[in-house]
Amino acid sequence: MFTANGDYANLKGNYLFYEVGKRARAYAEAHPDAELIRMGIGDVTQPLVPAVISAMHRAVDEMSRAETFHGYAPDFGYEFLREAIHKRDYVSRGIDVSQDEIFVSDGAKCDVGNFQELFSRSCRIAVLDPVYPVYVDTNVMAGRTGTNDGGRYAGLVYLTCDASNGFVPGPEAAEGADIVYLCYPNNPTGAVATKEQLQKWVDWANDRKSLILFDAAYEAFIRTPGIPHSIYEIPGARECAVEFRSFSKTAGFTGTRCAYAVVPTSVRAWMPDGSPADLRAMWTRRHTTKFNGVSYPVQRAAEAVYSPEGQAQTRALVDGYLANAAIIRERLAACGLRCIGGDNSPYIWVATGGVDSWSFFDRLLREAQVVTTPGSGFGRCGEGHIRISAFNRSDRVIEAMDRIEKVLK
Ligand code: MLT
Repeated sequence: MFTANGDYANLKGNYLFYEVGKRARAYAEAHPDAELIRMGIGDVTQPLVPAVISAMHRAVDEMSRAETFHGYAPDFGYEFLREAIHKRDYVSRGIDVSQDEIFVSDGAKCDVGNFQELFSRSCRIAVLDPVYPVYVDTNVMAGRTGTNDGGRYAGLVYLTCDASNGFVPGPEAAEGADIVYLCYPNNPTGAVATKEQLQKWVDWANDRKSLILFDAAYEAFIRTPGIPHSIYEIPGARECAVEFRSFSKTAGFTGTRCAYAVVPTSVRAWMPDGSPADLRAMWTRRHTTKFNGVSYPVQRAAEAVYSPEGQAQTRALVDGYLANAAIIRERLAACGLRCIGGDNSPYIWVATGGVDSWSFFDRLLREAQVVTTPGSGFGRCGEGHIRISAFNRSDRVIEAMDRIEKVLK
């Protein structure tokens, strides 16, 4: 008899952004004249920048001629892209990461979701709460949790993020955890972690033989000087951390798909019998077995992000989204709502003043025709909040704020 993976039965409800999309679609179908403004999922709205488009065009032309055609990409990504990543994201910041520790992929969500395959089922996982749901749901699917009662899965260690710890918990609450997912700038709260805060995590992981999975998908939004862009800016991180990066939000690649993971040769891991394991070799095995690479035109497009024009153009793109975020914060604060994030992040985390998240989401959808993301979808500590994404055109953001103001005032 065929039996399905019973751990899926532990999953609570739909994937968050699927559910938000479903509710927005149902509303749009029932109200065909309503003009929805989507500020829910963090999906970019601005076109790819000219430097990226030209590189992609050139690469597509190369694919049309036998002498410049490309079939399968090299296993870890083309050297031209890995070299560009290595130089611009690491060497230029004085960070010790080598080119052969970089694995090009089609998305940080996929990498983060897949990486847990390398861990034994008995590993105890710690997550921030609120949390990007992919970290949790993929571990539920893999059988590392029990059921979800009262908004939390049995077996996970939840690290409360709230005003009392500035939305950046320290490792003291991670008692018993073997692996921790950290995301800074944070999705969903937009909080950033300082070097000192990350150093505590790195020391904790090295002391305990634990692992940090560091999601830096939003690093391009950091504007405050001194905030680390990479976990490898922290001494000791090469021994205990894996990093995930993406071109999605940095350069508008959500529909184009390109990202990378860094797995240092020095990161320490252990087999169930206590003997040392080579995590980079294990990720190599997984990646080469289950993944066939990112297309040549997309890798050329990603390389162009690192050209001088690409850097200037993508920075302007991110600056535009940050300007939207500033408008959102200011306008919502003027309506009396407490907001954090949005200064080094495209997300603004908004307290709903005691109203539950889904009710507030529904109200903004029905009365303002603005789609947001209910905070409770990110975990129990997200209750009483919504997340607003700044990924939109500035005129749409202003229109959304005008509408929300009318509803709330
Ligand atoms: C988000 O809105 O949290 C992200 O866009 C989701 C993702 O990157 O997968």
